[in-house]
Amino acid sequence: QIAAASGHTVVLVDQSDEILKKSTKGIEESLKRVTKKKFADKPEAGAEFIEKTLKNLTTSTDAVAVVHSTDLVIEAIVENQEIKNELFKRLDKFAPEHTIFASNTSSLQITQLANSTTRQDRFGGLHFFNPVPMMKLVEVIKTPMTSQKTFESLMDFSKAVGKSPVSCKDTPGFIVNRLLVPYMMEAVRLFERDAESSLFIKLSIFSLGDASKEDIDVAMKLGAGYPMGPFELLDYVGLDTSKYIIDGWHVLEPNNPLFAPSPLLDKLVAEKKLGKKTGEGFYKYK
Ligand code: 3HC
Repeated sequence: QIAAASGHTVVLVDQSDEILKKSTKGIEESLKRVTKKKFADKPEAGAEFIEKTLKNLTTSTDAVAVVHSTDLVIEAIVENQEIKNELFKRLDKFAPEHTIFASNTSSLQITQLANSTTRQDRFGGLHFFNPVPMMKLVEVIKTPMTSQKTFESLMDFSKAVGKSPVSCKDTPGFIVNRLLVPYMMEAVRLFERDAESSLFIKLSIFSLGDASKEDIDVAMKLGAGYPMGPFELLDYVGLDTSKYIIDGWHVLEPNNPLFAPSPLLDKLVAEKKLGKKTGEGFYKYK
């Protein structure tokens, strides 16, 4: 959306036409929200902006066919190292020499993804934040193999789509998630903590814990000025995404208490309560 809105030719690739239809509809709705604000007094200019943006955007289910004429690939598929590696390996065979590959991974090592290709120097991380049209930040990740030219291209692209880039080495969680995810997991632990009860009781009686999830959310919004409380944010980001991140770090550092898995988070994910996108997570949504 933001690349198309800033004049880039974009092909959105996904697994099925059904998903692409849903994504396009989401983009149209988001563009309407952005336009309402940006062109409040000029509805005609707003309509033109939406039309122009959508003209820059096409969709496809065939990544290999599309990559032939692509300068930059931004991957944002499931957080699974093997599946990402397989995709990058395939695209590497068909992409032009100059094409830069970037991953929007929240938690996996960019270096390991880059190693599935023959273009490690033209590979980096571009990590955006939800909701992307509103959040100004992009983390640009440089691995030891990323060339300076590639890094600068990724920084320039981030600015061209209206974001403020920061750079970070290829370390777990980069900057934001390394701080934000342990904070959100600590909130879950505060909520599920109860020294005397068994795990079963802890999971089945939601009112136990040092504070309720509602009070923790209110506290962080009113006491720390966060726009959303940690449970609202977990539901917004997706409990599955949060679990992928924490599980991955737990494997890397099993003794780090900040990276310990949460039985409550695991339970909700097992029940397919993944947050806003499925209608229920820590909270219920209509
Ligand atoms: N597209 C376009 N516009 C959007 C939008 C979207 N998807 N979502 C919100 N907006 C706009 C609204 O239209 C609204 O515009 P208005 O001011 O003209 O009415 C404006 O944003 C504010 O929205 P709301 O009034 O609905 O609600 P809020 O004032 O609470 O703002 C929010 C919403 C911007 C999401 C704010 O709550 C927020 O900043 N939350 C924190 C988000 C955050 O922490 N993100 C990072 C998550 S971590 C991550 O993504 C990393 C990953 O790796 C896990």
